[in-house]
Amino acid sequence: MKILLLENISLTAKKSLENVGYDVTIFKENIEDDKILSQIKNTDILGIRSRSQITKEIILQAPQLKAIGCFCIGTNQVDLDFAKIKGIPVFNAPFSNTRSVAEMVLGEIIILSRNIHIRNLELHRGVWSKVASGSFEIRGKVLGIVGYGRIGSQLGIIAESLGMQVIYYDIERKLSLGNATECDNLEKLLSKSDFVSLHVPETPQTKNLISKRELLQMKKGAKLINASRGNVVAIDDLVEALKSEHISSVAIDVFPQEPKDNNDPFKSELIKFDNALLTPHIGGSTIEAQENIAIEVCDKFINFIKNGSTVGAVNFPQTSLQKSKDSASRILHVHKNTPGMLEKINNVFAKNNLNISSQILQTEGDIGYAIIDSSSIINKEIELSLEKIENTINTRVIKN
Ligand code: NAI
Repeated sequence: MKILLLENISLTAKKSLENVGYDVTIFKENIEDDKILSQIKNTDILGIRSRSQITKEIILQAPQLKAIGCFCIGTNQVDLDFAKIKGIPVFNAPFSNTRSVAEMVLGEIIILSRNIHIRNLELHRGVWSKVASGSFEIRGKVLGIVGYGRIGSQLGIIAESLGMQVIYYDIERKLSLGNATECDNLEKLLSKSDFVSLHVPETPQTKNLISKRELLQMKKGAKLINASRGNVVAIDDLVEALKSEHISSVAIDVFPQEPKDNNDPFKSELIKFDNALLTPHIGGSTIEAQENIAIEVCDKFINFIKNGSTVGAVNFPQTSLQKSKDSASRILHVHKNTPGMLEKINNVFAKNNLNISSQILQTEGDIGYAIIDSSSIINKEIELSLEKIENTINTRVIKN
């Protein structure tokens, strides 16, 4: 297996893939660099971060490509539909930075509660302001979490361990962890919370989820934290709420328009407010999260290469099959989702007098993915017969 890792992916990834015997090449550049494009035709597995755009044209230049791993959360830099119809699963690492975001938000809750961000700015300007007014402990205060998914629920647990009272609102029914209580609507949550922290995904429904109306539904003097997506909060309305002091302070990590890279300047109306603690989308940016991302994506690569498991793929039927004891070969068969495919595959086995010890087929949209264990060795001729079945996209044989 030839594995190409781009964009300075952590060395942990290289080591873990080399440890299982794969040939790994790493580059700090993204896919657009000529020296990388020339390698892509021999690449079996490609690892990228967010800067490499994996378009249809790039995929067409990579006839051997079997899987793509995004060493980050987002996957919209890959043409997922085209990868899917070429039989290429795309993996990512959605869980790796959950803890990092939750910890940063917890830190911000304390900072906002004690006005540490304002005191810090004052001292930098030579102003000594040793005051207690407006400074509070967080113990006993109400934290309202909007979006009780991975990050929201993790935040709830650690905030509760510091004595906060946690309430949450989610569009899905979620099991409350610890003593957290569910609110059945957003308005109720907003009206009860001393701190509101947003942890929803970017969807048409979450665009401007917190606008003028919702800001006014918050308690006077409450604090707002957004480390989810920039367009979840209507910034103009937030500016008004800060001006009128209805909202006493905010911590914002994500913005509707973010600079392309670290050389691009940052612009926002919020920079005028000392009581706005602003960070450059670093909620998930820790050394631990980078390491976890490497481990999570490499585990998915290895499981796919060795077992054909597509669990965790974002564009593919999620399938895995426990290896049967007497299995000599495992066959992976990706095909267009048309009726009768499994019968045609099984006929190849029957005609060649080969035993199937176990199998699974999963379909999703346009494609189907079958994993088949056989107690016989599958030779090249049989593999070719499987490939020749009409509507086959690709096949792979793993010797057990
Ligand atoms: P998740 O998918 O585990 O949880 C999101 C939750 O929001 C789900 O429970 C979902 O049901 C709920 N939800 C969806 N629409 C909603 C709505 N309209 N109202 C209330 N709840 C709604 O996602 P996860 O991993 O917890 O991530 C949350 C957010 O954090 C995402 O937007 C992600 O992009 C962002 N994020 C930010 C990072 C940073 O560096 N600041 C790093 C990692 C993630």
